[in-house]
Amino acid sequence: MQTKQRVLTGITTTGTPHLGNYLGALKPAIAASKDTNNDSFYFMADYHALIKCQDPATVHKSCRDIAAIWLALGLDTDAATFYRQSDIPEIPQLTWLLTCMTPKGMMNRAHAYKASVDANTAQGNPDVDDGVTMGLYSYPILMAADILMFNAQQIPVGKDQIQHIEMCRDIAARFNHAFGEHFVLPEAMVEEGDAKVLSGLDGRKMSKSYGNIIPLFAPADELRKLINQIKTNTLQPGEPKDPDTCTLYEIYASFATKQQADAMRQRYAEGIAWGEMKGELFEFLNDQLQESRDQYNRIIADPVFIEAELRKGANKAREYTVPFMDRLRAAVGILPLDGQVSTKVTQTKVKKELSAAEQAKADAGKARAMEIAKQREAQEQAAIAKRVEDARLEWQQNGGTTEALGVICAQLEEEIGQAKKKAKKQLQQILQAVQGLSA
Ligand code: TRP
Repeated sequence: MQTKQRVLTGITTTGTPHLGNYLGALKPAIAASKDTNNDSFYFMADYHALIKCQDPATVHKSCRDIAAIWLALGLDTDAATFYRQSDIPEIPQLTWLLTCMTPKGMMNRAHAYKASVDANTAQGNPDVDDGVTMGLYSYPILMAADILMFNAQQIPVGKDQIQHIEMCRDIAARFNHAFGEHFVLPEAMVEEGDAKVLSGLDGRKMSKSYGNIIPLFAPADELRKLINQIKTNTLQPGEPKDPDTCTLYEIYASFATKQQADAMRQRYAEGIAWGEMKGELFEFLNDQLQESRDQYNRIIADPVFIEAELRKGANKAREYTVPFMDRLRAAVGILPLDGQVSTKVTQTKVKKELSAAEQAKADAGKARAMEIAKQREAQEQAAIAKRVEDARLEWQQNGGTTEALGVICAQLEEEIGQAKKKAKKQLQQILQAVQGLSA
C-alpha cells in the first residue's frame, strides 16, 4: 500500500530554468521533498525536449544543467527519486497505451497546440496545422505517462500546466474505466500566493518561448544586465508608483518575506526611482541566490557525479515501473500466453529479494493471519450451531409440529430479508439446518 503522498514533477530539458520555473516548480518541489509525509519523484523530461528542440547539443547540455540545478538546490537523492525520463523505457511504453485511450478531440483543445493553430490562423495560413508535429500534438499524453507511471498524486507545476494535469486525470479515468482501477487521479499543486505566472523582462509571462527570461543561476553581471532590461513606465523619480503592475516589484515580492514586500510597497508610494529599484532588486536577488549558485558551479563541473546520481535514480525508479508496466500490459491483454489476465489486482508490489529474517517475519505474519481466520471461522460455526439448537428447543416447546417449525422458519426468513451480506449468509445456513430438523 502507498501510505506516503507521491509528489512528482519534471522539467523539459530545452534550456536553463528561469526564476519563474524556480518559483512555480523547483522551490515547492524541494520543499515537498523535505516533508517526510511525501515520496518525491523529480526528473529531467528529455523526451519532452525533442518536441521543441532539434538541437542535440542543447538537449544534452540542458539535461546536465537542470540536473545540476536540482542538486545545487539541495535535493536529497536518497530520500527522493531523481532521474532522467529517457532512462525509464516504461514511460514511452505507457505513452502508447494511453495514446490509444485518448480522444483526438481532447488533444485539439491543448493550449500548446491551440497556440500554434491560432498563430497560423492569424497569419492567414490556410494550413492551420503548419509546423505542428505529432509530438507537439500529443505532448499531454507523454506528460500523463510521466505522472501515471508512478501513480503520483501531487504534481507541483506552474499555472500554465494545470490543463495538462486535468487531461491526465481524464485519460487515467478512461483507462481505469476500461481496464480496472490502475491509476490514481493526480492533482496539480500550484504554489499558493503565486496568483499569476511570473512576468518576464517585457512584462509578458516569463517564458523561454518569449525570450524574456532571467535564468535562475545567471552569473551576477548577467543578472544585473537582465534586471536593467526589465520594462518599466515613464514615471519620474519622486512620483508615486503602483507596485501591483510592476514586474520589478513582482519579482522582488516573489522572493521577499511579507515584511520586506510591505516595506518596498512603502517605497513605491514614496516614489522610488526606477534605476534605484533595479539596483535594489539586483542586490536582493543576488544575495538570495549566491550560495546555491556557487554550489551549482561546483556541480556542473563534475558530470561524472551527476551521471552517477541519475543512474542511482533510474535504478530506484525502475523497481517500481518495471512491475507496474507488466501489470498494465497484462490489463490490456498483452502478457505471456501461459499467464493469467488479472485486471482485478489493484496494488503493485515491487518485488524485492527478502533477507532470511524478513522472510521469517513475513511467514510468521502470514501464519498468524491464518490462525486468526481459522479461529474466527470456528467461532462463527459455533454461533450457528447454537442458534440451530435454540430453534430446536423452541420448536419442541411449541409441540414439535410442522406448523410450529414453519413459524420459526418464517421468523428466520424475515430476519434474512433485513440482514446485511455476511449475516445473511449465516442466517441462511441456520435456516437450512432448522428446515432440516423435521427430517
Ligand atoms: N510539461 C512540463 C513543462 O513544460 C514538464 C513536464 C513533463 C512535467 N512531464 C511532466 C511536469 C510531468 C510535471 C509532471 O513545464
